[in-house]
Amino acid sequence: MRPWPADPDTAPARLAVVTLTLTAFRNYARLRLVLDGRPVVLAGPNGAGKTNILEAISYLGAGRGLRGARLGDVDQRREGATRPWAVAAVLDGPHGRFEVGTGRDGAAAVHRRLVRIDGKPRSGPAALADRVPVLWLTPDQDRLFLDQPAARRRFLDKLVAVLDPAHATRINEYERALRERARLLKEPGADPDWLSALERTMAETGIAIAAARLLAVADLTRTAARGIGPFPAAVVAAVGKAEDWLARCPALEAEDRLAGALAGSRARDAEAGGAAHGPHRTDMAVSHGESGLAAAALSTGEQKCLLLSIVLGAARIQAEKRGFAPLLLLDEVSAHLDEDHRRALYREVAALGAQAWMTGTDATLFSVLGEGARFLRIADGCVYDSA
Ligand SMILES: Nc1ncnc2c1ncn2[C@@H]1O[C@H](COP(=O)(O)OP(=O)(O)OP(=O)(O)O)[C@@H](O)[C@H]1O
Ligand SMILES: [Mg+2]
Repeated sequence: MRPWPADPDTAPARLAVVTLTLTAFRNYARLRLVLDGRPVVLAGPNGAGKTNILEAISYLGAGRGLRGARLGDVDQRREGATRPWAVAAVLDGPHGRFEVGTGRDGAAAVHRRLVRIDGKPRSGPAALADRVPVLWLTPDQDRLFLDQPAARRRFLDKLVAVLDPAHATRINEYERALRERARLLKEPGADPDWLSALERTMAETGIAIAAARLLAVADLTRTAARGIGPFPAAVVAAVGKAEDWLARCPALEAEDRLAGALAGSRARDAEAGGAAHGPHRTDMAVSHGESGLAAAALSTGEQKCLLLSIVLGAARIQAEKRGFAPLLLLDEVSAHLDEDHRRALYREVAALGAQAWMTGTDATLFSVLGEGARFLRIADGCVYDSA
């Protein structure tokens, strides 16, 4: 493995958490970790608190966190505990050191997340998406290819948002218009001009979403074809009407088509709720680059390798575009991989210069990393340095 500290002349620029402080976060009343930029291995028994640390780091980026949890569920459940959860971190980035603080707003009646970057309050996902790109792979995603399209769409959008930080904002805007239109359609005698304005917003943001997805899947497929060690090349596609229209006609025409389809489905949408058309119905289709088999037809281990190949590919694209790799949260990934793939994963993490946070119950699966990683042992919500 690459020696540490890495040679500063040849090492890629790095985004890394250097201190992490959790307060009232799940099983941690308080935890403070001081790190040095290397990848981190968190080893310990079931229920010790490994995934919770990855979840805390996921909140340094934009979005709803690695578990997609409700904000109130993250508060530490413990008799007498009333504090809202908080995560604070100091990070080293390509442009220097910066601080991110986030947590549930304890003062607000409706649960919402507060974000500060270098002490200044920030709203909207764009700032975090830009400063702290984070990608993850968790055991929950083992069935992604067999799951509902919504899970795959969320996974795809997460990848797109790392490659294009404005994506999360577009999705928020689109979903706000979608919800507003659905609410309006339930009202008798809803103002058709208002509906048309909302449908126009949905069409414009919706086609922009589709465009970002098409660019990302083309990039992902191209990068995967270059090969990441023994990981299978993945062919990734965004399959939906919005993407289809955009692939076949100019963007303005695709917008008109989507706006027209929405106007034509008002009666149906008023009845059924939601909207029959739009990028919120898109699926992500993945197949094996060599055999051409659909991902769902592959073995469990092969599906995991294909997912990892996509995530590592996205990290590579981001590293090539912006000069530094995203944070990688790899929950129990090594346990699923054979020796060959495990070594290839560690090699790729080193080549990317990514601060990967890797968990497992068995630290020996990571021993080949040697000085190339920081090893922490977790037991009952306490973290210890292990040699
Ligand atoms: N809101 C909460 N308040 C207090 N404890 C919580 C909360 N949510 C989860 N926990 C507890 O945190 C503990 C650690 O969970 P975590 O998922 O991090 O374990 P883990 O080390 O990843 O285990 P495994 O190896 O089984 O995946 C669990 O016992 C869980 O019940
Ligand atoms: Mg876990």
